[in-house]
Amino acid sequence: MKIAHESCSGRLFRYLMFGAILTMTVRHCYGVTSKYIRKLEASADLPLDDEHVLSQGGYNTPEQVHLTQGDHDGRAVIVSWVTPSEPGSSVVNYGTSKGQYEHSANGSITSYKFYDYTSGFIHHCVLSDLEYGTTYFYKLGTGNSTREFSFTTPPRVNQDSSYIFGIIGDLGQTYDSLKTLEHYLGSKGQTVLYVGDLSYADHYPYDSNVRWDTWGRLVEPSTAYQPWIWTAGNHEIEYLPQIGEVELFKPYRQRYHVPHTSSGSLSPLWYSIKRASAYIIVLSSYSSYAKYTPQWNWLQKELPKVKRHETPWLIVLMHTPLYNSNSYHYMEGESMRVQFEPWFVKFKVDIVFAGHVHAYERTHRVSNVLYDIENNNCVPVYDKSAPMYVTIGDGGNIEGIAGNFRDPQPAYSAYREASFGHALLDIKNRTHAYYSWHRNQDGKAVVADSFWLSNRHHGKWEEHTNFGLPRRRKLPLKL
Ligand SMILES: [Fe+2]
Repeated sequence: MKIAHESCSGRLFRYLMFGAILTMTVRHCYGVTSKYIRKLEASADLPLDDEHVLSQGGYNTPEQVHLTQGDHDGRAVIVSWVTPSEPGSSVVNYGTSKGQYEHSANGSITSYKFYDYTSGFIHHCVLSDLEYGTTYFYKLGTGNSTREFSFTTPPRVNQDSSYIFGIIGDLGQTYDSLKTLEHYLGSKGQTVLYVGDLSYADHYPYDSNVRWDTWGRLVEPSTAYQPWIWTAGNHEIEYLPQIGEVELFKPYRQRYHVPHTSSGSLSPLWYSIKRASAYIIVLSSYSSYAKYTPQWNWLQKELPKVKRHETPWLIVLMHTPLYNSNSYHYMEGESMRVQFEPWFVKFKVDIVFAGHVHAYERTHRVSNVLYDIENNNCVPVYDKSAPMYVTIGDGGNIEGIAGNFRDPQPAYSAYREASFGHALLDIKNRTHAYYSWHRNQDGKAVVADSFWLSNRHHGKWEEHTNFGLPRRRKLPLKL
């Protein structure tokens, strides 16, 4: 047999190619840090006279209209709004045909003071016993000051009910926030999972609550038409003892009601809902979660209640990420991770969404539950029962981008990027969901990270990213 002799330059070329492939493989195994950075400086808040934050309509017209789920199963909606000048009517007229409102419900009115600010009249009204998968039209206000909107209820709670969730965090009210919101409005998202830090009113002297009003108007084009599932962040705490404001989460709790009692929670800061094929658990990073505290007790009882044959997708929302390789807020979630991560693994949570860090990051399925202080097993390992952790505090608020990732990128981190944006979780059925993160880019939403997700309870396969990663099972056990 004749053996062809390879030239020196040919061998060199092969070695170089092998080296390049090896380098790319190692880099992919250990995650991707996107070099894409649109800009680092924070953009300004929208001015008070910007059209997106101005009051709509004439005298005492309902404004800041927002919806959230009103019960545990998705057959109720809480409609909330503000009348700026006088109480007005707290009635919601609604029905399944536009302009024909055969039903009505009576709400309640509240208002609050925060230092030198007095709120408008805040209305909350629960619409109950709605039909699944039905579009409802509703009308607020009286006389010449009425406004009309609509929403669509989710499909019946069922393991194969498909549904598209949007995920937004740390939005604020800047020009970047507006871009994120407009990009989400152009998507097919049906309900937003909001992971905390809403208005950033506390950026202003004495937490000027005027900025809560402007935020309510900014997001109304979405919140009046679909529920946002609320999570509280640190910017909602608003603890200012120097001016006598010591009631934690006061403006947030006055303005954003949630159905916490329907899941047996004593606090609106942690609760759960079922929606389509998803079971959503909302936790509070800024309330006690140590053993035997109310939140710990509630979650301990809550997780075993989830029937995965009914709601296969188990999703947890919180504000402070448990896994974060950004220098900003590094390890702030560590104490909650120690407390709750073993439960997340035991009950096979699919995804944990968090905000707080103003950048994007997604992890592999990892856990760090073996460590017992003395055994040195303190490095996250690949764990197919573990959730995927997504940090998405990249809504675009006034504090700017968190562009300082730790180097090198830790092995648990699959993809990270210092850009603003939003995500979509498109649940197809009991086994498959398609997740995508959309960065803000030149006025467009561009998919920068996406993958098919395998349900932890029903799924029979491991996920692949779209970055050519090998099966994650092949990641080293000790990362
Ligand atoms: Fe935060």
